Amino acid sequence: LSVSQIFNSPRLVKACYRDPLDRPPVWMMRQAGRYLPEYQVIRDKVAFLDLCKTPDLACEVSLQPLRRFGMDGVIMFSDILIPVEAMGMPLIFNEKGPVLPEPISSKGDIERLIVPDPLEKTGFVMETLAQLQSALIDSPEVALIGFAGAPWTLASYMLEGGVSRNYTAIKKMMYDTPEMLHQLLSKLSQTVILYLNAQIEAGAQVVQLFDSWGGILAEKDYQAFILPYHQQVIEGLHRDKAPVILYVNHSRGLLRQMNASSADVISVDWLTSLSEARQIVGPHKAIQGNLDPNALFCQPDVLKSMVETLLKEGGNRGYIFNLGHGILPKTPVENVKLVVDTVKHSTPLLETPHAFA
Ligand code: CP3
Repeated sequence: LSVSQIFNSPRLVKACYRDPLDRPPVWMMRQAGRYLPEYQVIRDKVAFLDLCKTPDLACEVSLQPLRRFGMDGVIMFSDILIPVEAMGMPLIFNEKGPVLPEPISSKGDIERLIVPDPLEKTGFVMETLAQLQSALIDSPEVALIGFAGAPWTLASYMLEGGVSRNYTAIKKMMYDTPEMLHQLLSKLSQTVILYLNAQIEAGAQVVQLFDSWGGILAEKDYQAFILPYHQQVIEGLHRDKAPVILYVNHSRGLLRQMNASSADVISVDWLTSLSEARQIVGPHKAIQGNLDPNALFCQPDVLKSMVETLLKEGGNRGYIFNLGHGILPKTPVENVKLVVDTVKHSTPLLETPHAFA
């Protein structure tokens, strides 16, 4: 990226490239959703998947948190399982979450999956991004964020058939027939590369790769089944047009491995302190995180001081304020506002606290 491109970029993009800033950008994973009354009004009339597939509504819902709180980024409203449905697997959402009623159980099932053309099969996602891009035309300081699930997390849904407690199906395949799992992960990598590049083409200025269930693996299994696919996906993206944020939940023991990928930003959960994360990640990548989503249920003064601690630790360079995982459904709206306001009105830090920044 050229200097002038960075100069004209939104604050969030600058933070991804570790430009020094007067304050860090702030957004929240799952910032659009059930804790917002205006989201509920729409959801009362429309099923979740229909909402994802109706660009006017998906665009509206994506913008709701921006209007109310003024975050520095707008994440398109969708779900990580949208491209999985496009690969040929039926998908349902019930009150508890996603269900894939025909989970993968054989080599034949994997071979039958297609690598979908993102425009043909998920054109509604690109249309949502295009609408968001026009809606944000007068807010060049706000970044448009695209995302995808990473191969491991998507494979776990495809094999388990939904949210899983023990991950028995995917672990059994990993131990019994590793080559079969590699076959599935490769197909998913190809899908995710095409899907994210189409999002970048449609206007996403930053993309986040969600490997929510990556934290259930031992280091050597992560090395074999996760890291190579992160690398494959990231290297397949139009990196000159959009930086990449990598998120893994429960990543405490895995930060070195996450850092071995060429992601621009490492997103950490609250189990690792930002200073510890900075020490492991080093000076060449930005860090995102890591307020415990449960902190948003606390007394305002407690919450505010937690945010201030993070701001001190994170510093003014290569740091993006976010939660350690997605915002929870019953989160009090006024506390989300308190967090965003605290970050936006934080006193500029003249120097970054970590020595090598
Ligand atoms: O961040 C945003 O505001 C954008 C929207 C977004 C959703 N899902 C909307 C959603 C994003 C980025 C996701 C990603 C996603 N989806 C992940 C990765 C992030 C993470 O939390 O680890 C995962 C694992 C999923 C799969 C998924 N979708 C689950 C497990 C569930 C059920 C649990 C839950 O939180 O409801 C969903 C449903 C879902 N995805 C909802 C929303 C707003 C709730 C649907 C509703 O309105 O009923």
